[in-house]
Amino acid sequence: MIYNNLNLIDLNDYPVSWWEKLLTLAHEIISDPSKYSKACEGKIMGTLFYEPSTRTQMSFQTAMLRLGGTIIGFDNPATSSVAKGENLKDTTKIVSGYADVVVMRHPTAGSVKAAALTADCPVINAGDGGHLHPTQTLTDLLTLKEEKGHLDNMTIGFCGDLKNGRTVHSLIKAMTCYKNNKFVLISTPELCLPTYIKDVLSAGGHTFTEVTDLDSAITDLDVLYMTRIQRERFSSAEEYEKQKGSYILDCSKMAHAKGDLVVLHPLPRVDEIAIEVDDDPRAMYFKQAKYGMYIRMALILTVLKNSDKPAALITGSEHIHQQCSNPKCITHQEAYLPHYFRGEGTTLECEYCDERTLVK
Ligand code: ASP
Ligand code: CP
Repeated sequence: MIYNNLNLIDLNDYPVSWWEKLLTLAHEIISDPSKYSKACEGKIMGTLFYEPSTRTQMSFQTAMLRLGGTIIGFDNPATSSVAKGENLKDTTKIVSGYADVVVMRHPTAGSVKAAALTADCPVINAGDGGHLHPTQTLTDLLTLKEEKGHLDNMTIGFCGDLKNGRTVHSLIKAMTCYKNNKFVLISTPELCLPTYIKDVLSAGGHTFTEVTDLDSAITDLDVLYMTRIQRERFSSAEEYEKQKGSYILDCSKMAHAKGDLVVLHPLPRVDEIAIEVDDDPRAMYFKQAKYGMYIRMALILTVLKNSDKPAALITGSEHIHQQCSNPKCITHQEAYLPHYFRGEGTTLECEYCDERTLVK
């Protein structure tokens, strides 16, 4: 086992009781934000965004400012020494010596865990390629807790790019930890959920169906999680064009949905939710983005208080000659990284990107 700081790389590294503590703290912050306005005085947060962002970056920054702390960082690696060829390890090592907590977004799966391995302060995953986005999941959980009052006994539809949508992967993993949730996976065959996430559903004995038609699926749903087709993850413009516009939620579809449906979307939206839906009281996505600021305040407070037990960063072991089979894994970009895998036998799980690899 390798431990480091109180990082947040994957929400499922922590017990549900830890998430619940964050949700409760966020609720308290919403009720009395002024009580927390000096809670992080003298503390510094570094935001290292190697990929574009509006909500995650700005809600983290606002969260820290509202807690009385200050912020440093970059939102475009081209204006930092990354442009001179600095590797992930060195950039993180340096900034984690300046800041008390580092928030990182990066286009490559497993990159934030790789950074956390050598960081000198806690590192928070703000999205690593098409892999995970745990603080979006905390945002989604807070929205559902506040708006629906519970996180169990729901039929949840995920629609759009289930293959590349990191918010989908993180949220499905989280919702499997609550009782009696059913999952309806709505996508084209090309953009279906990756096997390693379907395995999480199957292993937990959860009911899930895969369908291609949103019209017929919407009637049974308690939650509809719409997502953008992730253009930046496609290997060619032609492939993206084939998928673009596959699903569009409009008022005619909403007319067939339950009266207490909650429509979520991590945003940004392109065309998958028609603007006309914004006025429907079941459209919760703008409120959801605001909940994101409060849950990030709760997370920063918890991480900087540093009284919780950190999750293990690595639970497996090093396999020097084994390569991860996922070409989008960080181990193929940062050659110095040790090749850590979980499990044994003929199939190993990469510690960075969670994909399965056949042993050579
Ligand atoms: N903002 C979310 C993410 O960074 C969703 C999206 O970009 O479509 O994963
Ligand atoms: N939801 C989300 O992560 O939004 P940004 O990409 O704008 O940060």
